[in-house]
Amino acid sequence: MISIKSLRGRDILSIADLSRDELRSLIDLSFKMKELYYNGIKFLNVLNGKTVALIFEKHSTRTRVSLQVALHQLGGSSLYLSAQELQLARGEPIKDTARVLERYVDGIVARVYSHRSLVELAEYAKIPVVNALSDVEHPLQALADVMTIIELKKDLKKLKIAFFGDGRDNVAHSLMLAVAMLGGTIYISTPPGYDPDREILRNALAYANESGGYVTVVRDPVEAAKGADVIYTDVWVSMGQENEREKRVKDLMKYQVNTELVSHAKSDYIFMHCLPAHRGEEVTEGVIESKNSVVWIQAENRLHTAKAVFASILI
Ligand code: CP
Ligand code: NVA
Repeated sequence: MISIKSLRGRDILSIADLSRDELRSLIDLSFKMKELYYNGIKFLNVLNGKTVALIFEKHSTRTRVSLQVALHQLGGSSLYLSAQELQLARGEPIKDTARVLERYVDGIVARVYSHRSLVELAEYAKIPVVNALSDVEHPLQALADVMTIIELKKDLKKLKIAFFGDGRDNVAHSLMLAVAMLGGTIYISTPPGYDPDREILRNALAYANESGGYVTVVRDPVEAAKGADVIYTDVWVSMGQENEREKRVKDLMKYQVNTELVSHAKSDYIFMHCLPAHRGEEVTEGVIESKNSVVWIQAENRLHTAKAVFASILI
């Protein structure tokens, strides 16, 4: 029997929308989902009759597929809605879309350019709204990230986690909040001008203060890599930033995760990346294809965590 800490009806726009206990419970449930899956129990008929609308303004492979499969395996159904094909693209306000969709479906998951769109969706829709990536955060990714770290490295509180690249990255923001909440140590190694969002950093520092964790921003990538258990990076040019490509690649090249950089980490370090990866930019082929790379397990855990999220907010 699975015990589910109910988050019924809750919005998850940020990791900060969860308490530490709720975050832990979502991770515990994700492990239970994975165990059931490997014991041949893929299908749980707990969302019978429930429908979730998935609104995507941007491309996606992992998020879209893991969410749709998760809903299917839980007995619910999903509606994939490309924002381009909704009346949103012709100017219908998001607040109107919210009040219409809540009359048809039981939840909304949205991937948006601007985090403000999510906030507005959540404000106007009475049903739960979940962030599937915005310019500020990617909480569903962070759930799979911390699950993967705990699965492979056990006690997160004893680990040094190092993120390299753009400190304002949506994935880095959510990871930083989740690690800090759970009492881990995270180094964000980033150049001047790419520091994390101030409010998110302030929040992460406050969580670390309460949990016994440690959060720091460092310029020197070697300082961050030294003795690290987890080496994490994300693309330098996020969706929507394509016109800044040249400058960003130049500014971030020093933070590339390559064989030299990882030689400073513990010998049994794990390499993580939310994917998609740009080989030759933020990571080299040698590192992502090395025995230390756990990116496929990390991607798989998107499914188990997605099931945990839907079971928690919709039951
Ligand atoms: N990691 C992740 O969110 O991947 P997608 O962009 O493919 O959904
Ligand atoms: N930072 C990347 C993450 C993709 C999953 C982006 O926003 O494009």
